[in-house]
Amino acid sequence: MSRRPRLTVFGTGYLGTAHAACLASLGFEVLGVDVDAARARGLQAGILPFYEPGLEPLLRAGLRAGRLAFTTSYPAAAEFGDVHFICVGTPQRPGSGGADLTQFESCFAGLAPLLHRPCLVVGKSTVPPGTAAAYGQRLPGTAPAGTGAELAWNPEFLREGHAVADTLRPDRVVAGVWSDHAAATLREVYAEPLAAGVPFLVTDPATAELVKVAANAFLATKISFINAMAEVCEVTGADVLSLADALGRDPRIGGAGLRPGLGFGGGCLPKDIRALAARAAELGAGEALSFLHEIDAINQRRRTRLVDLAREAAGGRLDGRRVGVLGVAFKPGSDDIRDSPALEVAARIQALGARVAVFDPAAMDRASQVHPDLDYRGSVLGAARDADALLLLTEWPEFSAADPVVLAKAVARRAIVDARHALDAAAWRDSGWDYRAPGRPGDPAGLPGALGDSAGAPGALAGHPAGVPRHAAGPREAEEPLPGRCDLTRRAPKRFAVKRLDIYGSSSMAACDRRGLPSAWNWRAPPGRSAAPSTRPWPRRAARCRYG
Ligand SMILES: NC(=O)c1ccc[n+]([C@@H]2O[C@H](COP(=O)([O-])OP(=O)(O)OC[C@H]3O[C@@H](n4cnc5c(N)ncnc54)[C@H](O)[C@@H]3O)[C@@H](O)[C@H]2O)c1
Repeated sequence: MSRRPRLTVFGTGYLGTAHAACLASLGFEVLGVDVDAARARGLQAGILPFYEPGLEPLLRAGLRAGRLAFTTSYPAAAEFGDVHFICVGTPQRPGSGGADLTQFESCFAGLAPLLHRPCLVVGKSTVPPGTAAAYGQRLPGTAPAGTGAELAWNPEFLREGHAVADTLRPDRVVAGVWSDHAAATLREVYAEPLAAGVPFLVTDPATAELVKVAANAFLATKISFINAMAEVCEVTGADVLSLADALGRDPRIGGAGLRPGLGFGGGCLPKDIRALAARAAELGAGEALSFLHEIDAINQRRRTRLVDLAREAAGGRLDGRRVGVLGVAFKPGSDDIRDSPALEVAARIQALGARVAVFDPAAMDRASQVHPDLDYRGSVLGAARDADALLLLTEWPEFSAADPVVLAKAVARRAIVDARHALDAAAWRDSGWDYRAPGRPGDPAGLPGALGDSAGAPGALAGHPAGVPRHAAGPREAEEPLPGRCDLTRRAPKRFAVKRLDIYGSSSMAACDRRGLPSAWNWRAPPGRSAAPSTRPWPRRAARCRYG
């Protein structure tokens, strides 16, 4: 092939559109293919169907230069392309953790019989282990070109919000190939980034497809690790931000990705770790990856924790409260709301009886299609207006820049929950706000160290500077059961002390033995219900209570 290879990109979503427009900007002729005719028409008119910084100008430049076009026609694409990139979706299969490969299968089944001349078919979608081998075997038997049509795997690592930069200058290009010819072809496609020093890693296809899901599993683990530490911080009085900073300075650990907060979401990490765990189980290696279930569970718990924090911030209840929400996209720089922790928290709070007003710079259209019941406002100020609690759930830079003094005048109560650690806590507190963030101590005035008498109390955690678990005893402890709350005092055996504790801001009754270990407890009994001690295990994050 003397001319540059002509490229097709099947599936023009977040990945495919960025890939097509970036390769066109590098001088290749590129044809994007999608089954969604409206999407293909829109892209051909220069309209990006989603928000991605810097991508629309690249799209339009490619169209203007005549190097980029979009179609729904598989025959036209098969005729046009020398290298066919498959970038279709691989969502979670409904009702299971496994990957739904329907889009991939239909793309392959539509394309392969049309391949009459030698070409390279390159899988870029994220798939479970074994997918490349299965399709690699099928291709020569299905394509009229026979062994002239070859499969390779070239996983994609771009991050939404940074798709252009990540595509043009990736950290690495991984080429999973069965032949030198396939490696040479991919080297030609990525010639420009490779010339700029981007590493080109040649592997077999099985390794290439695994690199992607393993990378996502590692990232998810790192995020859930620090969020698990945030849970520990909340019962020990430690500060997860300082912890993450100190941990991240160890070069063996590294600070990137060690960001505590509301956890991960989006169209990749959650479904990819589930698909990997499900596939490993199918292959008999389920035990090796069983920890991924815990990673997922830790991540899901962050959402519940945020609802609890919102309730605390709103004065102990959500029903009838007004809650302002800043951010519903799964991350800043994107309008993607797939498995968005922010949107889920907003919806859960609304379902608990609060009136939720939302602002997001990019994701409101998409969010309103899924949750039309939320109240969408045009600005940060609009979302904050009359709120009993304000929640920052996606760390858009404009939210970090918001002025706490200005917002203080708009809200009904100065209570902010910073789910992403994006705000200057001191500045907000100085402006009179009750500032809360997961894994961080609350108002310094109420810190255990301010108590004076708690350092030697039974049940105190050794080594903690203030001597007591932050949420398990001390300043939030109340001797009198609240009216309407459950009261274990009459039920508890004599050897137990019964305390009403404030665990994560929820009223809880605990019967503790003399070592401060909880022996019976009732967590969040609804008002008016006198509940028996719970048979559920003591929540790990609540640690010990103090003998009283
Ligand atoms: N979004 C990301 O940041 C990202 C990053 C790396 C890898 N990935 C992986 O890339 C793949 C695509 O992700 P996405 O976020 O772009 O998904 P998406 O849902 O945004 O896009 C998928 C596109 O494929 C189209 N499509 C479906 N079936 C088709 C078919 N048979 N032929 C042609 N087009 C078809 C859909 O209409 C849609 O436009 C997934 O496997 C994902 O895990 C995504």
